[in-house]
Amino acid sequence: MNLRTLLALAAVFSGTVPSLSGDLPRIVHENGRHALIVDGRPFFILGAQINNSSAWPDIMPKVWPAIAEIRANTMEAPIYWEQLEPQQGMFDFSLVDTLVFQARRHNVRLVLLWFGAWKNGSMRYVPEWVKKDTAQCGRVEDASHQRMDILSVYCPATLALDQKAFAALMGHLEEVDGTLCTVIMVQVENETGTWGTPRDYSPEAERQFAEPVPRELISALGKREGSWKEVFGNQAEEAFAAYGMARYVNAVAFTGKAVYPLPMYVNAALRNPEDSGARAGANYPSGGPAYSVIDVWKAAAPAIDLLAPDIYLPSRTAYAATLALYNRADNALFVPEMSNDPSNARFLFSVIGRGGIGFSPFGIDYTGYVNAPLGWNEVSPVALKPFAEEYALLGPMIREIAEWSFKGMVTTAIEEQHVPLQRFDCGRWHVTVSYGLPEFGFGDNPPGNPSLDGCALVAQLGPDEFLVAGIDARVQFALSSSAKGEHMEYRRVEEGVYEAGTWRFRRLWNGDQTDWGLNFKHVPFVLKVKLGTY
Ligand code: DGJ
Repeated sequence: MNLRTLLALAAVFSGTVPSLSGDLPRIVHENGRHALIVDGRPFFILGAQINNSSAWPDIMPKVWPAIAEIRANTMEAPIYWEQLEPQQGMFDFSLVDTLVFQARRHNVRLVLLWFGAWKNGSMRYVPEWVKKDTAQCGRVEDASHQRMDILSVYCPATLALDQKAFAALMGHLEEVDGTLCTVIMVQVENETGTWGTPRDYSPEAERQFAEPVPRELISALGKREGSWKEVFGNQAEEAFAAYGMARYVNAVAFTGKAVYPLPMYVNAALRNPEDSGARAGANYPSGGPAYSVIDVWKAAAPAIDLLAPDIYLPSRTAYAATLALYNRADNALFVPEMSNDPSNARFLFSVIGRGGIGFSPFGIDYTGYVNAPLGWNEVSPVALKPFAEEYALLGPMIREIAEWSFKGMVTTAIEEQHVPLQRFDCGRWHVTVSYGLPEFGFGDNPPGNPSLDGCALVAQLGPDEFLVAGIDARVQFALSSSAKGEHMEYRRVEEGVYEAGTWRFRRLWNGDQTDWGLNFKHVPFVLKVKLGTY
């Protein structure tokens, strides 16, 4: 046991989460923006989440080639309670070790997903000995008191067992990884909330639902005291479920952080913001961190650093609306899972543009499993190409992007249907991004790309200096409001790459390469642009 563990245990007894973070990964906040700090600097997760049953030593050889293909800097992989603690109190860390040691060899960081008492709103990943212990580990009951395949959060024994297993996992991680920090973040449980019932109706849940809303929640939300129905109206059951779930998950996270304080998040199976009739428990799991109960979660789960949307929604507008809902001054934006449909790749630029800390398509391995229609109908180099292309473009300078984004210096654009031209201002400069144009020739009527895959990133490095990157887009600069007779000119346009934080110049762009705007196709390069006026 090292010093950090000793101090952490002391902190558990004194009831405070230790601030022993030193150089450990952590989330920081400034001016309403957020950064994931890894090795002392902002980091952005260019992620890939593997399939649920892929984190086994015999299967990993089919995983690594896909991770390499997509060029992820971080792999997200589950840890299964049923495997970790096959008999009560007997822990098997071999899968954790396999992941950590192999990730180091493959030069990627890890986000580990604790598939504990909750996975997609059910209890499928708990060890058999927990499943059998129905006396201590009670089940959720629906409104007609039928027991469900879901553990009740109102059973202290279940929570204690989950906490113990999670603390063992975090303790082991601290031992094997506390110095190198290959694991940079941990997901606590998976897609919590109940499907099939808006809340638990077991006797203890009924007792708590009959009580007034707890004072701490009332004061955190600035509401007037009363029963759940009086305070939350027709959202009472979902709010009650969220409060119980958030407190449970918070307790698990708190115990884990006391042992090893990595950043921890909870992922959300989403309530579709475009479906006004969506009902908790029917259209999305009730009690998970859906957008309608983010405030309840924030109040009841302070040990959770952020709530993260798993985006499998059918429309682009719902995707964008979800990013807006989870990108808050009190919540760093992270998309830990999303459909691996190749047409979703461009959303990486949206997440970066909103100052997010990471992005990860789901089901990235070559085990042959596909989760269509949620995801794409194949996982192959061809299907991964749009993601790989973006990761190849941004990966070499992702630290710089994360830093600039934390300082609010980055603006991005992604192509929208029927919107082949977008504009934004950067200081005294006006930026136009247009789609579907050739590299040569005027572009008064951009047609848009048939595949809608255009995207661009503009980082303002100084009043008149920019870094520009993109795919299938033309980027043009002009003066926002020019004094009469004042015109913009390129002073210098450099093509180059970032290597280990240093800009490496390749060539100057001029002539045809700048006469028709700055045109980006599918070859990964970055431009540094210096503007002036005459
Ligand atoms: C969301 C879950 O969090 C994932 O583990 C997985 O089950 C996907 N849904 C569906 O493939």
